[in-house]
Parts: sequence; structure tokens; C-alpha cells
Amino acid sequence: MNDALKSFLEGLDSLAQDCESRKGQACSLKELDELRIEFLGRKGKLAQSMGQLGRLDATEKPAGGKKANEVKQCITTLLDAWQAELSQAESGRALSRFDPTMPGRRPWAGSLHPVTLVMDEICDVLTGLGFEHAAGPEVENDWNNFEALNIPPEHPARDMQDTLYVSERIVLRTHTSPMQIRSMLKRQPPLAVIAPGKVYRRDSDLTHTPMFHQIEGLLVDHNVSMGDLRGTLTAFVRQLFGARTEVRFRPSFFPFTEPSAEVDISCVLCGGAGSRDGSTCRVCKGTGWVEILGCGMVDPNVFRSVGYDAELYTGFAFGLGIERVAMLKYGIGDLRMFFENDVRFLEQFA
Ligand code: DAH
Repeated sequence: MNDALKSFLEGLDSLAQDCESRKGQACSLKELDELRIEFLGRKGKLAQSMGQLGRLDATEKPAGGKKANEVKQCITTLLDAWQAELSQAESGRALSRFDPTMPGRRPWAGSLHPVTLVMDEICDVLTGLGFEHAAGPEVENDWNNFEALNIPPEHPARDMQDTLYVSERIVLRTHTSPMQIRSMLKRQPPLAVIAPGKVYRRDSDLTHTPMFHQIEGLLVDHNVSMGDLRGTLTAFVRQLFGARTEVRFRPSFFPFTEPSAEVDISCVLCGGAGSRDGSTCRVCKGTGWVEILGCGMVDPNVFRSVGYDAELYTGFAFGLGIERVAMLKYGIGDLRMFFENDVRFLEQFA
């Protein structure tokens, strides 16, 4: 055996010994990985020794190659054994850190949107008073949304500024009132329906969003009076805002009701005093009242458009904005909160 082969084989032997002596150095899987790279990596110690193989005589290369493979196998076996030991130790340590007496983590639960909560509550109260639920399309024809509700073509409510048109005769409903028409066309009195849902307007600023929610109410029968309207709405509002809530009817105008009124309730924040802690109430601006809905006795023209006999029947209707009620009930100061979907806001309603 010549010197070159001899020193090649010795080098490989000492490599194996070197590796074996380093056991204490690998105390973690990470350190062991480093050791593996040092010995078996692409530029590691074994690869460097193998580089010398080229210098051997052609007749000695097979012996050199064989030895190199043995040493590689030997080092691999060593490192694998250490790895098995270390991973067992590490999972043991992880287990001893696990405290089975700790309370578990609760799964994240969603919550209903405040608009949904208020919508559901309003529907519950009104169905409790005997109203039936009705649903209709958000894409509505001009006749249902305007004409049949006694809103003639020149009426300002039709202005391009308010209405989102799909085509000349088709609109996104600007209110839930067309559900009055759809309900009456479907059947004859007596009838008491509510229709909650989305409505759309070309309006977007601090206090208006292009989409918001309303609920419509309609009751038609023989001898329905303004007293019935007042009694119904007072009961409704008191269930929603509390039994001590004061109710006030203020004369107003809507094309589809005559007479018409807007309903105010005593302020939810100051209770009607107009001031709180010595300063003007920010919700009612000192008046003691907040507006909550529009209502009135169904205009005979509306009955005529659906073929009801206006001499035989009378009825009342009302409509209110859900976001507005939610703001009053929960003391939310900014309409945009409803549409930003910030979880920090939403999770308060869980
Ligand atoms: N539709 C009206 C609006 O969007 C609300 C309304 C007022 C509905 C009076 C009614 C009513 O049924 O009688 O502002």
C-alpha cells in the first residue's frame, strides 16, 4: 500500500473518531443538525476528504471509495441514533411543560350584527302584536316604488339624486313602502303585515349610506282609525325602548298617507330632560325628543291604485329606519360603524 492511500484511509478513520467524540456537543436537535452539516454537508468534512480520492492511483481508487462509503455510513448511523435520543428527550420536556389543569381555549364564536339584532327584535314585537311577515324584491318597478304610492312622476322623491335606477322603469327600492302595494295586490283586507329589508338611495355622507334597512308596517280593515295607529305604535315603541317611554305625534307629510305624522319618543339618553350632567343632551340636542318613525292613514289614492274600495276600508301605515333605532338603542354615535365590520365593534354584541 503506498503512502497516498494510507494517509487517505487514516484521514477517513480519524473523521469517524472525530464525529464520535463530539456527542456531548449536540444537546439539541438544532445543534445536531449543525453537526450533520459539518460532517456530511455538501462542503462538509467527509466531502473534503472525498476530494482527495482523485489523487490516488487508479488501482487504489476502489479501496479508497469503499472506505469512504463505510465511514459515511458509520457517521450517519451515529447521528441518527443521537437524533432519536434527542427528539425523545425534547418531547418529554414539552410534555412536562404542558399543564393539564389550565382552562381550555374557547373557540372563537361570531355574533349577530347589531342591525340584525334590532331587526329581529322589532319583528318579534310586531309579530307579537299580530302583524305577519312579508318579503319582496330589492329591485323594484317604478309603479310599486312610486306611482301606486301616490308619488307622481314630478315628485321630488323621484329625483335622480335620490333614486338608483336600474333602467328607466326599474329602480333599487328607495324604501320598503312598495311592500304595501305588493301585499295589498295579493289579497283582500283585513290585513296586517310588516316588511323588513334593505333599501337604497343615492346618498353617502356622515349620516347617510347608499344602502340601509327599513321596516314597513301596514294594517287595513273596516273602521281603522288614527287612534288604532297611535295605540299600536305606542305599544310597539314601549316594548322596544321601555315602558316609561313617552310618545308624541307631530304632523308631517308623506304622499301615501293622509293625514301623516312623524313619531318622536322621549330621548333615550336624557329621558326627556334635554340635559345631562348640566350640559345639553347630545342625542336630542336639548329638545328632550328624538324622531323615530313616519306614519299615517293610508291615502285613498293608494287604495284606488290596488283596487281596494276606499269607502269600505281604512288603514294605517308606518315605516322606520333600523340603523337609526340601533344607534338609539345601543348609543352608537356614528352610522359608518355598521358597515365597516370592525370586529372590535361587532364582538360587543355577542
Ligand atoms: N317610506 C318612508 C321613508 O322612506 C317612511 C314612511 C313614512 C313609511 C310614512 C310609511 C309611512 O309607511 O306611513 O322615509
